[in-house]
Amino acid sequence: AIQRTFSIIKPDATERNLTGAVNAVIEKAGLRIIGQRRIQMTRAQAERFYDVHKERPFFGELVDFMTSGPVVVQVLEGENAVKAYRDVMGATNPADAEEGTIRKLYAKSIGENSVHGSDSEENAAIEIRQFFSEADIAG
Ligand code: CMP
Repeated sequence: AIQRTFSIIKPDATERNLTGAVNAVIEKAGLRIIGQRRIQMTRAQAERFYDVHKERPFFGELVDFMTSGPVVVQVLEGENAVKAYRDVMGATNPADAEEGTIRKLYAKSIGENSVHGSDSEENAAIEIRQFFSEADIAG
């Protein structure tokens, strides 16, 4: 079925001017970028977004990183978009990522791993809602 998923191009990628390179991999995978905005996340936004990880030892580092520079938040649409995007992102740790995936190509480390993608359709809807209104999405 046609689904939407939520994506973030993270500060390590925007800093290296890789927005277009990441988008090329996304589009080549058959996903359509139907919403996109470049923002500087506030600590409050990052803490809310990563609330499920707040007890993890890396939470502070994660919030510091996600607020260290601009990010590009995106809504992606396509056939089975949640899984399709996770497949093209590759494993969280770039050392484990498959050839040709965004993280294998571009990620620096498990923390500075270039992209985020929703892990379920339910979370995708929640994450999209945090950053987009329907008026800023056009499929
Ligand atoms: P993301 O998909 O954005 O969701 C949670 C993030 O936590 C994950 O990508 C990683 O970038 C980050 N993360 C996971 N494990 C670690 C770790 N051990 N150290 C630092 N960051 C981590």
